[in-house]
Amino acid sequence: MEKYVIRGGKKLSGEVVISGAKNAVVAILPATILSDEPCIVENLPNISDVTIILQILSEMGAKVRMINKTTVEIDPRTLQNVPVPYEKAKLMRASSYFLGTLLGRFHEAHVSMPGGCNLGDRPIDQHLKCFAALGATYNIDGGMVNLTADTLIGNQIFFDKNSVGATINGIMAATKADGLTIIENAAKEPHVVDLANFLNSMGADIIGAGTDVIKIRGVKSLHGTTYSVIPDQIEAGTFMTVAAATRSNILIRNVIPKHLEPITRKLVKIGVQVEQYDDAVRVIGGEDYTGTTVKTQPHPGFPTDMQPQMAAVLTCSKGASMVTESIFDNRFRYVDELRRMGANISVEGRVAVIEGVERLKGAPVKATDLRAGAALIVAALSAEGVTEIYDIFHVERGYENMEEKLRALGADIRKVDEPDPVAAEHTARKAI
Ligand code: EPZ
Repeated sequence: MEKYVIRGGKKLSGEVVISGAKNAVVAILPATILSDEPCIVENLPNISDVTIILQILSEMGAKVRMINKTTVEIDPRTLQNVPVPYEKAKLMRASSYFLGTLLGRFHEAHVSMPGGCNLGDRPIDQHLKCFAALGATYNIDGGMVNLTADTLIGNQIFFDKNSVGATINGIMAATKADGLTIIENAAKEPHVVDLANFLNSMGADIIGAGTDVIKIRGVKSLHGTTYSVIPDQIEAGTFMTVAAATRSNILIRNVIPKHLEPITRKLVKIGVQVEQYDDAVRVIGGEDYTGTTVKTQPHPGFPTDMQPQMAAVLTCSKGASMVTESIFDNRFRYVDELRRMGANISVEGRVAVIEGVERLKGAPVKATDLRAGAALIVAALSAEGVTEIYDIFHVERGYENMEEKLRALGADIRKVDEPDPVAAEHTARKAI
């Protein structure tokens, strides 16, 4: 059982290079299934979600070859339409992308209901609505989502809910449908645009990604490509909050500053200095911050995936802050953990009220999901004393070499592997 042990209170300095975007690459890798030729994907982050997707592709019969640490070649020609089982699908939400991509290529898909971070109810009704509009029939049987279609025919789809996953699945299935598909109330997140750019680089005909309305004219075939994944907006934003919370001066490289604007705006508002360059931002923490209001919104609003890390910064900002989560039902599970460190936070429904305290104190805490884990790291780095963060496998799903990157900035962080006390007791009992 691995944990992070962090001694907080150190000022950090130096540079950090941001890796490829998790939420883009987890769509792009399954999308290679639509290609008729091998594809090369560059700027691959070394995170466990990528490992799992590559395993799924490989188990389905695709030829997966790492060219170097950040570049993979995927030849999908030998891939068979094998069901994506529960053991893999339960590990991440992005397993749902095999629905759109297998439907697009084989007109049939069988994928176990997707798992991922527990953020409250995460239905897939909009994904299914979209597949049905393109001509597929579906059923859910024994936890398996089954889709079949004789032919896929372009259609006009209006999403009742602005959904990243449904938009990506819709684009993937429509790419090889007959005729024109128009998706309205589409998600505009940078990773939606990246997926569309990737497919266009293989010969797809997708326009409007990044706006509310995306038009996809189906094509018969897609050729191979070499494509570099965009930098991770949320990893960059997380390091911005690390700099803010630890009152440090950090240069964050390999970013698209435009993607960071909603985060930059909030940090500047509370008193953090942010300098923007072409592909980097420098974040200079101040001594005192003021509380503020944060409301998560679809892009270009403040990202829900930065809500816990921003809240961690606000725990030590002067006065009261109000954080409203408008995307997910239950994204405040980290609050109990921050309270263990001395934060003064109360939660009512989708609103958290934070009364700033002078300083957090280290404590044993547990990452309840990926960004919750990131928020605890932010808090621990600024806290007095030692924090132990358990369940860090959540963090490793989405952050490449987090502890190494932080150590290079001067943080006192170690990854420690200690025996699971429950398993150890079990073994001891068996020995008796
Ligand atoms: C994506 O999840 C991201 N995951 C999440 O990142 C991110 O928090 C989320 O988008 C919002 O930006 C990936 O890209 C792999 P949604 P997704 O469909 O696609 C509701 C992280 O930390 N909804 O945009 O699952 C849903 O319940 C993670 O990196 C429906 O009602 O999110 C939610 O309230 C966690 N019906 C809202 O829409 C549907 O069919 C937005 O969800 C689909 C979604």
